[in-house]
Amino acid sequence: MTLLVVGASGYLGGEVCRQAVAAGERVVGTYHSSGVEVPGVEARRLDVTDRSAVRELVARVRPDAVVSTPYRYAEWTVTADGAAHVAYAAAEAGARLVHLSSDALHAGRPEPYADDEPPSPVFPYGAAKAAAETAVRAIDPGAALVRTSLIVGDERSKQIRLCLDALAGRAALFTDEVRCPVDVADLAATVLDLVDSRYAGPLNVAGPDAVSRAEMGLLVAARFGLDPAGLKTTTSASSGLVRPAEVRLDSSRAAALLPTRLRGIRELLAP
Ligand SMILES: NC(=O)c1ccc[n+]([C@@H]2O[C@H](COP(=O)([O-])OP(=O)(O)OC[C@H]3O[C@@H](n4cnc5c(N)ncnc54)[C@H](OP(=O)(O)O)[C@@H]3O)[C@@H](O)[C@H]2O)c1
Repeated sequence: MTLLVVGASGYLGGEVCRQAVAAGERVVGTYHSSGVEVPGVEARRLDVTDRSAVRELVARVRPDAVVSTPYRYAEWTVTADGAAHVAYAAAEAGARLVHLSSDALHAGRPEPYADDEPPSPVFPYGAAKAAAETAVRAIDPGAALVRTSLIVGDERSKQIRLCLDALAGRAALFTDEVRCPVDVADLAATVLDLVDSRYAGPLNVAGPDAVSRAEMGLLVAARFGLDPAGLKTTTSASSGLVRPAEVRLDSSRAAALLPTRLRGIRELLAP
């Protein structure tokens, strides 16, 4: 199988590439501003905001499947338009599509969100991820849309780096923002499970433990042997930012359907 990973220079995209190469697949991976570090990947530069370039690349590579990961937090043209361009090109090529979405498209509430709940975005990044989903589903109703949460792993994870920065007093973690972190290797394996499946539509793929960002900082302190007293915290409510507070994804459907076990943050960061 030929797998095209769009955003292979990213944290999740790189791990998807590593696992697919290890499984013996031909993997073509794209980068935009950095480079693809995974050995065995055929690297190509691509700007997903350029619709013609996306169509040309996909037509040339002729992938059996496409994993679409690109986003920029504050760039609608990358997060929303880019996702639509990739979906259009994948559909033209008749390729299976797995698109990466986010828990950020929900407004936030104490109760967990089920897989099929419609987006209710409250800030621009969430709105861009919601628009991406709408475009992808309209173009390719057979695509799988992976709604995930904070992606953790080693120090290359921006979420882990944020916790380390807060433990060093260089950043502050919210005590009132709750998420369900997921390990990058578990998430990548699930993405590849979905490539091999016919699952269509949104699917929650997150860890079973819901924690606040500040609680995650304490788990990181224990894991890295750092003094938890150094942890700087604040509240999202007092920051003036508009962001979803509590977003818990119920990932029981993914757990029942797919072979990869999604580990919780307490297990992942156990000292
Ligand atoms: N990280 C999280 O905690 C988290 C949480 C929920 C959902 N997600 C979703 O999961 C996915 C992967 O996240 P990640 O943390 O692995 O992302 P990441 O490490 O920031 O990687 C983003 C990728 O997008 C590429 N990209 C950016 N602008 C581009 C453009 N104009 N054209 C083509 N490619 C472009 C980057 O390429 P260059 O680096 O080469 O520029 C990089 O490969 C995203 O869709 C994100 O919305 C992430």
